Amino acid sequence: MNFRMKCLAQTVFGLFPWGEEINYWAQRNLSGTLPPSRKRYEKKLAQALAHQEAFRKYGSREQGVVYEIGCGWHLAMALVFHSFGYPDIKALDVNPHVRAELVNSILGYMKEDHRIPKEAPLIGPDGDVQKILRDAYGIDLMVPGDSRSTGMQTESIDYIYSQEVFEHIAPELIPDILAECYRVLKRDGVISLYICYSDHYYDVDKSITPYHFYRYTETAWRKYNSPLHYVNRLRHVDFLRFFRQAGFKVVEETVSRPVNWQEQLSRFPICDDFASKYSMEELSITSARIVLKKCSR
Ligand SMILES: C[S@@+](CC[C@H](N)C(=O)[O-])C[C@H]1O[C@@H](n2cnc3c(N)ncnc32)[C@H](O)[C@@H]1O
Repeated sequence: MNFRMKCLAQTVFGLFPWGEEINYWAQRNLSGTLPPSRKRYEKKLAQALAHQEAFRKYGSREQGVVYEIGCGWHLAMALVFHSFGYPDIKALDVNPHVRAELVNSILGYMKEDHRIPKEAPLIGPDGDVQKILRDAYGIDLMVPGDSRSTGMQTESIDYIYSQEVFEHIAPELIPDILAECYRVLKRDGVISLYICYSDHYYDVDKSITPYHFYRYTETAWRKYNSPLHYVNRLRHVDFLRFFRQAGFKVVEETVSRPVNWQEQLSRFPICDDFASKYSMEELSITSARIVLKKCSR
């Protein structure tokens, strides 16, 4: 699909108060990205395993209280964390995306894989989603929630993870979200983040590069940056500065970039907003896995 088509659809959906519902309908009936396929579930499982590996490597407890920022539509990662044996998972999202039928499709895959017993409850048509998630899966669903002010107790969380969320948060909110993470995280707690820095239209349009959005100034980009799929275009160095300012140290960092990044970055003129602010090496990073701990204060 041409990225302009996706952009147009999202801009139109975003104009309506029920834009989220239309977006959901379109994801089910047009793009086919929902309900999640088995392949998608397996991808989420692999991503959750990577976060758990970070917790095992840098944390002090085998299990502990977990907080997910941006749990999304189907809760795949929170449910997988339940199957890893974590007893208490706080799953927060600013949007109340969660849908029972999507959660059920993930539970179905987990049953097929024997990750949960086959008698584990699904969410019925009139089921209380919050109650079933809490009682059967140890998930405290916090939607809509405010990641700047979670209401959680100070130093009550062992592990925080977030997958492909921080690139969707407005820059001015990030310091307060990180300050809240600092407050709720235990002294020896661990944060594991995966941030995707690519132009997200590249997911649907392979005729562009993951760097496509560098051609647009902030003003020009506004028309492509639908509120339904907002991306902040911050670069990895910006996040490193935010983490440092919030009192965290990076204990592990894995950045990714395409092998031919130099050639891809030379295909079009990069606008001055990016060219004057970042080196080409900084611009080349398309995703990062970052593990944080608190600096001792
Ligand atoms: C691309 S989805 C990723 C969902 C999930 N982490 C996954 O990997 O399947 C991004 C999610 O981040 C959520 N989000 C955006 N800003 C947020 C914020 N300030 N606090 C919490 N969640 C946020 C969105 O509502 C959306 O559900």
